[in-house]
Amino acid sequence: MRKTLTAALTGLATILAAQSALAERVNVGLLLPFSGVYASLGNEIEAGFRLGLEHFSDDLGVEINIIREDTEVNPANGLARARKLVMQDGADVLVGIVSSGVLGAIRDFVHGAQVPLIVANAGNDEATGERCSPYITRLSFSNGQVNRPMGRWMAEQGVRRVYTLGADYAAGRQMVGGFTEAFVEAGGEIVGQGWTPFQQTQDFGPYLAQARASGAEALFVFYAGGEAISFVNQYDSFGMAEVMPLYGSGFLTSQLYVNAQGESANGVITSLHYVPTADNPENTAFVEAFQASIGRLPSEYGVQGYDSARALVEAIRTGATDRESLANALRQVSFEGPRGALSIDPATNNVIQPIFVYETVSGENGAMTQKVLATLPAEADPANGCVMPAPVTN
Ligand code: PHB
Repeated sequence: MRKTLTAALTGLATILAAQSALAERVNVGLLLPFSGVYASLGNEIEAGFRLGLEHFSDDLGVEINIIREDTEVNPANGLARARKLVMQDGADVLVGIVSSGVLGAIRDFVHGAQVPLIVANAGNDEATGERCSPYITRLSFSNGQVNRPMGRWMAEQGVRRVYTLGADYAAGRQMVGGFTEAFVEAGGEIVGQGWTPFQQTQDFGPYLAQARASGAEALFVFYAGGEAISFVNQYDSFGMAEVMPLYGSGFLTSQLYVNAQGESANGVITSLHYVPTADNPENTAFVEAFQASIGRLPSEYGVQGYDSARALVEAIRTGATDRESLANALRQVSFEGPRGALSIDPATNNVIQPIFVYETVSGENGAMTQKVLATLPAEADPANGCVMPAPVTN
């Protein structure tokens, strides 16, 4: 009897401590690459996240304390940093993760530690598929989600024979995989595939030569960050544009680095969940605010950070008092944002959002810009083996 009472009181004390902690202050562990091929992505997500907090946390009455850690683009290091944030720094919630490899590495720790994670980039399909968790909510995209619609769209445009190239790690495999699956289902043919060692390929020449020799009518690729800049520049200098038009995931020609590609990116057609030229009032306001505060146009990475901050603030506003209720509230956010109507799929915890097909074209003053060719309707991912406990309504 006494033991039961002591256990109950200890349990209550723990809950009350957690409650008062979250009611006054939320410790956010911001886990992003601040070095390596995705460093610029990490910085942009942080800029968007801070802007989002500034915009949405007025009168919140809760202090948001950010502790940053550099994951590099290194799964083992990402896991060590995640552990440190939760175990040593007392992070109540983790935000960030750019690489699918890093997300794969930290998933079991996050799930076991029961700490909410807002994924602000990494599209790893498994994290909202067979390895889904009530603690993992993704505000960015899944790798399959961005690319399946493009497979169908290209087939509809009459493209028949495609060669694919991609960075050889989880994201490259899944992005190209999602495209391939939908393209073949819609009647297209993949005539060959090449995989370039991730973070180690400086010379794409041999891979481009193989693509060219395949006789395919088009090339579809996944590259992002520093690799995307090198790839597009080399594709152009190899004179490929005349023989094999370039398609891909829209990260290839992200606003974040498209001007480092310049005219080489002209005419490249890709699909993505956000373009800065998206025509809606929320986006107009966001683009203006981002430009005023950061001094450049936002990219998808900026909006992912911004929306992650909004989701966090909305979850806190529901009165979430501990990690469990915060995770639960995060899974139920929905709003009209710069990308359009956005909600979380309760079956997987992945965001549901429209997908844009856009062409990169020369804009004013020599800057590259995005011409939207199609807006494809929001589509939830298949559950992909996810068995998710039903959310408890607050
Ligand atoms: C990923 O690893 O999931 C990833 C990285 C960079 C991107 C998109 C996805 O631009």
